[in-house]
Order: sequence, then structure tokens, then C-alpha cells
Amino acid sequence: MPLCNMKDLLKKAEEGNYAVGSFSVANMEMILGVIKAAEKTRSPIILQIAEVRLNHSPLHVIGPAMLAAARGASVPVAVHLDHGTSLECIGQALRLGFTSVMFDGSHLPFEKNVEMSKAVVEMAKSTGAAVEAEIGCVGGSEDGSVDIAMRCTSPEQAKLFSERTGVDCLAIAIGNAHGFYKDEPELRFDILSEVDRLVEVPLVLHGGTGISEDDFIRCHQNGIKKINIATATFASSERKVREGYEKGEIKGYYDLHTREIEGAYENAKKHMEIFYSVGKAE
Ligand code: 13P
Repeated sequence: MPLCNMKDLLKKAEEGNYAVGSFSVANMEMILGVIKAAEKTRSPIILQIAEVRLNHSPLHVIGPAMLAAARGASVPVAVHLDHGTSLECIGQALRLGFTSVMFDGSHLPFEKNVEMSKAVVEMAKSTGAAVEAEIGCVGGSEDGSVDIAMRCTSPEQAKLFSERTGVDCLAIAIGNAHGFYKDEPELRFDILSEVDRLVEVPLVLHGGTGISEDDFIRCHQNGIKKINIATATFASSERKVREGYEKGEIKGYYDLHTREIEGAYENAKKHMEIFYSVGKAE
């Protein structure tokens, strides 16, 4: 199965009424765990890494590994740059062959966000990659380094933004936040239905960690076709390793390696089932 364009994956998700999981990875073990879950459940998936994480996992090293894993997978896999903020980094991802990039201008004034997102849409035309942008502000930040205040998306602005920029999918803020939620998230399904009614392109939900199964289902049955999961995968891999040490089952590096893969696998598989993407690879 070739490396896929994210546009095609999301189009099929719209037709089939499910969401594609977009899983953040930090190393080869997580890449292998997520791909294993996708192959086991026959799910299409997106592998992603955020620009802010590249100080730990440099793009010129992890990017080719993500692409190689996608090309070697037996299910459709898109490779995505998450929360791109600089045109340099977005350009580098496109040159490497990423099939999708996000420009995150959610903190910018509306007009500036439109202008920059349009510039990224133009850049991506050179390779045919898909472009995601964000309107409204998802709470927190991808790596937890800044406590960005959540600001729900205005449905009218979302419509205007998607029409003026020509992005392929749109991340919205409906009470979702990155990282672990301090309190139970209360998603604004009223805003989601209004955005879904007004906006043509598939919608994206960030901050997947901590959202309940029922809320995930309500989201993907109401226009959300890409769901981002990061913290839950990191936590699952770390927990699996910690348990291994506690039980004395990690005797050397490769026991650690296997447990990291297993942690990423278990978390990704659970989410693919909730997103109804199981069996949709065929
Ligand atoms: P979580 O870390 O809350 O799963 O959010 C992931 C995300 O939205 C990455 O862009």
C-alpha cells in the first residue's frame, strides 16, 4: 500500500462516516507500534510529528523513518507535520515528501492567519501535499510548554477562513485542549454542528487525550474526520516500560524497546476501534 495523501484518507472517512487517527510519534519504536496497530486492525492512519518536538527528534532523521514506515505498511498511511509554525520547517517537510502539513496560525490575528495559511497552500501545490490550518484556539500547547487559553471557533469565521484559504481540512476549538485535561472536558457540540453545517472541508479535533469514548463518537459522527492523539501514546509507552521495570521483566535494552512498541500499539489500537476506522483500509 503506498504512502497516501491525507486528502484521500479524509475523503474516504467522510464517505464511510468514521475518523482517521493521527498519531504523534517521537521515535522508531512508536512508529512501529502505531503501524502495527493499523495493520492489525486494517485501519488507515496518519503518522505525525509537531514542529515543537523536533528539538528531541530532528526532522531530517525521524521524517525519513516515518516515510519509510508508511511506504512499507500494508495499510494506507499519510505522513503529516503537526503544528508547523515556520515556513522553513514546513518547506523541509514538503521536500522530504510529507503528504500533509499543518500551518498553525491560530494565535495570529484572523487576516494574518488567512494570509499565512494561503501561502502554505501555495507552497504545498509543488508536491500536492494536503494542508491543515486552525481557527479558534485549542487549549494548552502540543508539548505543554505554554498554557494557551482555549478560545472556541466562531462558525462564521471558520466558513470564511476555509473559503478564503483553500485548506484541505480545518482544526477547530470546541473546548478541546492538548495534554491531560485538568477537569473533565466539556465539548461544545452546538459549535461543532454549526461549523459542520457551514464548512465544506473535513474537520480536525486536536487534544484527543482524555476525551471520552462517547464524545469521540459524537465528534466523528458530526464532521470530525481527523483526530490527533499524542500524550496518550507517550504515556502508554512510558507506563508499559515502567511496569516492565517494576516487575523485573526488563533485563536489557531490547526488552525496553519491545515494551515501548507495545505501549504505542495498545493505545493506537484502542483509538482506532473508537474512531470506527477498523477494516477501512481495504
Ligand atoms: P493530546 O496530546 O492531547 O493527545 O493532543 C494531541 C494533538 O492534538 C497534537 O496536535
